[in-house]
Amino acid sequence: MGPMATESKNVVWQSYSVDKTKRRTLNGHTSLLVWFTGLSGSGKSTIAREVEARLHERGVRTYVLDGDNIRHGLNADLGFSDDDRRENIRRIGEVAKLLVDAGVVVLSAFISPFREDREVVRRLFEPGEYVEVYVSCGLDECRQRDPKGLYEKAFAGEIAEFTGVSSPYEEPLEAELVLDTGRESVEESTDRVLARLGL
Ligand code: ADX
Repeated sequence: MGPMATESKNVVWQSYSVDKTKRRTLNGHTSLLVWFTGLSGSGKSTIAREVEARLHERGVRTYVLDGDNIRHGLNADLGFSDDDRRENIRRIGEVAKLLVDAGVVVLSAFISPFREDREVVRRLFEPGEYVEVYVSCGLDECRQRDPKGLYEKAFAGEIAEFTGVSSPYEEPLEAELVLDTGRESVEESTDRVLARLGL
């Protein structure tokens, strides 16, 4: 018997199948996508970040997807036509699916104005994995807040196809949760999301 045979005699190749369930078990919590949708300035990113902070404190693995890390990187080639928005949301849905498969609680904050595009994302997931949160806030309130000064420009005609002004926003009909950020504080909204997730 040569050295090679001796060395390999007790080596048994096992095919470990690490899957979503095993990753979740290792993490000690489930994984899912919380999809925040609503007008620009409604509070999507703020609430998503706050929910993330609270979950992180509890030892939950999280990741926020929003314009800052998607429209400047992966989707830097996309603008705001209906087709580009559809492609924006489609890609984000696929990225979120990978992250949920990786065992992460994903919080996404995009206007995602079209019902059909949101449904395409929902269909990528198993029941319970996609939680749609409608961040409801009147246009007047968003316009008043105008954190980025974009409504002023949009109403002045300096930005084309601006959601709520010159491009439509289709309200969710069956969101898992509706937040009324015109009335609720960020903390109240955050509490309601956390209660709904039960994490
Ligand atoms: S989505 O419609 O494709 O879901 P997304 O959430 O990625 O939009 O980007 C929206 C953000 O881009 C807004 O909050 C705003 O800061 C900026 N923005 C720039 N141009 C527009 C526009 N024409 N309509 C809406 N948002 C715009």
